[in-house]
Amino acid sequence: MQRILLIEDEKNVVKILSKILQENGYQVDIAFKKEEALNLINSNSYDIILSDFQLPDGNGIEILEIFRKKDKDTPFLIITAYGSINGAVEAMKKGATHYIAKPIDFDNLLKILSFYSEKSKPLTETENFHGIIGKSPKMQELFQEISIVSKSDSTVLIEGESGTGKELIAKAIHKLSKRADEPFVAINCSAIPLELFENELFGHEKGAYTGAVGREVGKIELAREGTLFLDEIGELPLYPQAKLLRVLQEKEFYRVGGTELIPANCRFISATNKNLEQLVEEGKFREDLFYRINVVHLRIPPLRERKEDIPLLAKYFLEKFSKIDDKEIYDIDSSAMEILLEYDWPGNVRELENAIERAVVMCQEDIVKPHHLPPRIQKKKSSSTLKAEIETTNLLDLEKKIIHKVLEEVNWNQTKAAEKLGISRKQLRTKMKNFGLLK
Ligand SMILES: Nc1ncnc2c1ncn2[C@@H]1O[C@H](COP(=O)(O)OP(=O)(O)OP(=O)(O)O)[C@@H](O)[C@H]1O
Ligand SMILES: [Mg+2]
Repeated sequence: MQRILLIEDEKNVVKILSKILQENGYQVDIAFKKEEALNLINSNSYDIILSDFQLPDGNGIEILEIFRKKDKDTPFLIITAYGSINGAVEAMKKGATHYIAKPIDFDNLLKILSFYSEKSKPLTETENFHGIIGKSPKMQELFQEISIVSKSDSTVLIEGESGTGKELIAKAIHKLSKRADEPFVAINCSAIPLELFENELFGHEKGAYTGAVGREVGKIELAREGTLFLDEIGELPLYPQAKLLRVLQEKEFYRVGGTELIPANCRFISATNKNLEQLVEEGKFREDLFYRINVVHLRIPPLRERKEDIPLLAKYFLEKFSKIDDKEIYDIDSSAMEILLEYDWPGNVRELENAIERAVVMCQEDIVKPHHLPPRIQKKKSSSTLKAEIETTNLLDLEKKIIHKVLEEVNWNQTKAAEKLGISRKQLRTKMKNFGLLK
């Protein structure tokens, strides 16, 4: 149970607030004065502190200042009188986590509190597996497999669509393995010209070819006893495939132009967004190499096959980018989340990460709304959901929903909304009034 300290002198507000908070599962302590609050803070520990600005013997910011000297992290929220923007600004400067304007909107307050209490309890180890976020059964299974293969020393092939986290997972395997203190070195097989692949992998001796002015070690030597990550291995042409196969089999190689046999001590992890078995069938990938690199096969499911991970990932990225941009955005509203859940994410987690990054830039409020999301993903609902909606709503509800959606799309610009809806601005205003859609 989360423990809250409520500092507020108005008896009526205390009565209502403490009741609402208790009903929502918080344990509430109350202080009516600054002195009482300081005593309670000294002798107890709280998950959240919620303080009024004006108190009989001081103000909330004075408490905040004293509190922050010993505790930098516990969320401290200040309630400011309506319109007192100066107080709010000062509170934020002094380290308040959030300010709440009076009159208090209780629904909103509860959302804010639940956000901060969730934040103070970090994602569990099963939801955040060494920086890989996911709670879907498919990801949980993958986390298990990663734990197991990290303990072995066999080659691993990671297969997944673009943006599913192949490199993230390769790095996690390295970090969890006994090779963690040695280097993790990556080669992007699609980015290296054919004639340079050998050079990249094995290095060269001085004078090996024109321009080879000195000895240079390749990626295998750079990786030492660590991990060599062969990214996009499906793009590797047949000739370098033979060279790679040889080093995997013999565990030794020559630098280009060299005569000394050098041991290859690294572990090989490969990744592909192609179906290698099919490439083998088409004669584009060597079958013997395929078996060598594929001792353990990990498949990362695309995001659309594990949509239950979307809210978790979206909030994770929201927190990350809010921090980077120094913004106080605490949530994603339900209609924006609905859009995220409905979209198919061809670019997978990377695309979701970019969408949230953009939303944080666009958002000038404390919650992400549909119009902050990239236009590309705000596309229309599929006809089947629309059909289901028609069956469960009446015409007036539907009209209200459509007007609301269009208003969101044009950022509540009534002239634009009226134009889009094909009605006059006056008609729009009347409808907004009737539907209670006035902001
Ligand atoms: N499960 C996840 N949890 C947290 N972040 C993730 C997750 N999956 C992917 N990411 C993030 O998404 C981005 C893309 O991941 P990564 O580069 O590992 O994908 P990839 O499969 O290698 O993509 P590509 O095929 O395009 O190279 C990175 O910023 C990564 O941190
Ligand atoms: Mg990659």
